[in-house]
Amino acid sequence: GAAVEVDISGLKPGEKMTVEWRGKPVWIMKRTSDQLESLKKTEAQLADPNSDRKAYPTPEYAKNQHRSIKPEIFVGVGICSHLGCSPSDKFQPGAQPSLPDDWNGGFLCPCHGSTFDLAGRVFKNKPAPDNLEVPPHMYLSDTKLLVG
Ligand code: FES
Repeated sequence: GAAVEVDISGLKPGEKMTVEWRGKPVWIMKRTSDQLESLKKTEAQLADPNSDRKAYPTPEYAKNQHRSIKPEIFVGVGICSHLGCSPSDKFQPGAQPSLPDDWNGGFLCPCHGSTFDLAGRVFKNKPAPDNLEVPPHMYLSDTKLLVG
């Protein structure tokens, strides 16, 4: 499929945009420094913190804690690795009593309750078998991203 060129110059910290690639929603999220910090705190609660699982192999350049090329910019396919629902963004505190107490934000799959951190890493004991897919991507410039 054709690669998609995306201008991310308007993306502000904490914001997420969605583009379509091969019929899939691809999220591009600019994480704040607090959000990046939160990725360190929940490692022990993740099923595959180092992205070693192979259902959706993580590109080498994203096999790191933030699962991205630039630490702040997460690029991930917004489709749950369980049965393909699309997880939603962080919801209001208290809306999901089953979440870990130190939930720092992330994504919640509405279908069977899988939760993912802000790097798309799935929490333990959830039905989703893998982290969210990181699609192949590269930067053409500081503000131009090529997905695919
Ligand atoms: Fe996401 Fe089942 S489809 S938890």
